[in-house]
Amino acid sequence: MEDRSSLKKYHTTVMLEEAVEYLLAGSRSPAESSESSTPLYIDATLGEGGHSEMLLNRMPTKCRLLSIDQDIEAINFVKRKYHDLLDEGRWILVNENFAKIDQIVRHVEEEEQMRFTVHGVLFDLGMSSRQLDYENRGFSYKESNSDQPLDMRMDTRLGVKASDLLAVLDVKQLASIIREYGEERYASKIARTIKEYKAGVQTVRDLNEVIRKAIPVASPALLTKTQSRVYQALRIAVNSELDSLSQALTSAYELLAYRGRLAVISFHSLEDRIVKKFFNEQVGEGHGVLITDEVIKPDEKEVSKNQRARSAKLRVIEKS
Ligand SMILES: C[S@@+](CC[C@H](N)C(=O)[O-])C[C@H]1O[C@@H](n2cnc3c(N)ncnc32)[C@H](O)[C@@H]1O
Repeated sequence: MEDRSSLKKYHTTVMLEEAVEYLLAGSRSPAESSESSTPLYIDATLGEGGHSEMLLNRMPTKCRLLSIDQDIEAINFVKRKYHDLLDEGRWILVNENFAKIDQIVRHVEEEEQMRFTVHGVLFDLGMSSRQLDYENRGFSYKESNSDQPLDMRMDTRLGVKASDLLAVLDVKQLASIIREYGEERYASKIARTIKEYKAGVQTVRDLNEVIRKAIPVASPALLTKTQSRVYQALRIAVNSELDSLSQALTSAYELLAYRGRLAVISFHSLEDRIVKKFFNEQVGEGHGVLITDEVIKPDEKEVSKNQRARSAKLRVIEKS
């Protein structure tokens, strides 16, 4: 087995302290769990295991941690990096979509032959820096990725890649994805240019060329912004990210025990809108109390060290 330090991390965990502290400071204490049930925390987005590691180190020893990721490479990385922590037997890893969080918990309960009381669930949405650097999935528009196929599946068991969407959907459908999920004003022009591309848009190079052609004056700043919006839109569509999030929030909240906490870190307005609306509905119906009245953002020090943190927003609700 490798030494933990020999495996390099690519991802800097965002709002590590804040997210873990908010989750563990719930007014439900693990000591309240009955003899017949085991207190459980869930990290629904394992990634490189940053939040999970701190949760394991800080949660009371009688608790278990269930960490989920739909990307098998994230699970495999964590298995190798943290084999010593996994050997302690308090940490369960599951390779699934968090939209199935309720089925996952029931399945683990059956397998482990125990009942869980869920004290907290954390979502740190989007992609990890490791995924952006994958060599074969075309997640990033960087020129060095030009030869990569436009795959964009986080879960390679899914059937439809980004290049399939570009081939199969018509101009109107593509424009609507790029407009809705990328909030991109040149959506129609980009969609038309995709469909006019002779050989079919297959690679990062092809898509970058299409975007360059479609926007009026390709200043470097406009080009980068447009690329990041179009890539985001396709990634959201391929992975059904917003539907998964909506479904997962509802299921995770149902799983939570009274006074358990749900914490979500989002990175763009489409995600944050869903989280905010869901939290407000729970409060409105008397099912929850907002712990973060105002959304929490990373401080300047964190943003200066990690550019990816600049758009992060943390919201926390406690079930009542
Ligand atoms: C921002 S990273 C999490 C980073 C992690 N908190 C850390 O500190 O290393 C998001 C992770 O969530 C996973 N993910 C995104 N959507 C998911 C979904 N619907 N179901 C399961 N995992 C998902 C991604 O594959 C990625 O590994």
